[in-house]
Amino acid sequence: MENIYVRKSFVNDIPSIEELYKRVAAIEGALARTASEISRGYIEYFVSKSISDGIELVAIAENPGRIIGDIHCYRNGVGTFAHVLGELTIAVDPEYQGKGVGKLLFTELLTEVVTKCPDILRVELIARESNVRALHFYESLGFKREGRLVKRIRSVHGGFEDDIVMAWLRE
Ligand SMILES: CC(C)(COP(=O)(O)OP(=O)(O)OC[C@H]1O[C@@H](n2cnc3c(N)ncnc32)[C@H](O)[C@@H]1OP(=O)(O)O)[C@@H](O)C(=O)NCCC(=O)NCCS
Repeated sequence: MENIYVRKSFVNDIPSIEELYKRVAAIEGALARTASEISRGYIEYFVSKSISDGIELVAIAENPGRIIGDIHCYRNGVGTFAHVLGELTIAVDPEYQGKGVGKLLFTELLTEVVTKCPDILRVELIARESNVRALHFYESLGFKREGRLVKRIRSVHGGFEDDIVMAWLRE
């Protein structure tokens, strides 16, 4: 793999993160949002929430020096859920998928939780049932399937499919 490193995100990254999400969302069935639903407001919202009350990491390819991956999650602001990081989304540039970037981002995120966030006990995510590779990937990282939200998400080919709720728990 070419030289890729991971760092925390900054507000200045917002335009590059927006470009990344538009590229990833252009692939059918990858993200819940379509490319036209990736607005500047959506990116600004999750970047600011992740910086103030969560974690966001970006992967940078040194050559050409751009953001090629993002992972973020944050607390929901309610005290009784202060031990939970949720709303997790991960996106890797289609040109760089399958090269270990997603694994790198997730591993760094969980290391950050384990070493620097002792008050976080749970990290939650939701993935559509048809995203089989992603579901197996999350299981390989220690996430467990906890439940199924029946017909929660619209399918690429019409109709609806189930969303799978997964969580990683601090040991
Ligand atoms: C899912 C995703 C984050 C994985 O990141 P990645 O950098 O492609 O993955 P890695 O190369 O680190 O490989 C890790 C695992 O992810 C899985 N994976 C690889 N490419 C994938 C792809 N295009 N889609 C889904 N899963 C993929 C593989 O099972 C792999 O496991 P393996 O190493 O045992 O083969 C990335 O492919 C992506 O952004 N996909 C589109 C958006 C998406 O599906 N987001 C998640 C919504 S829940």
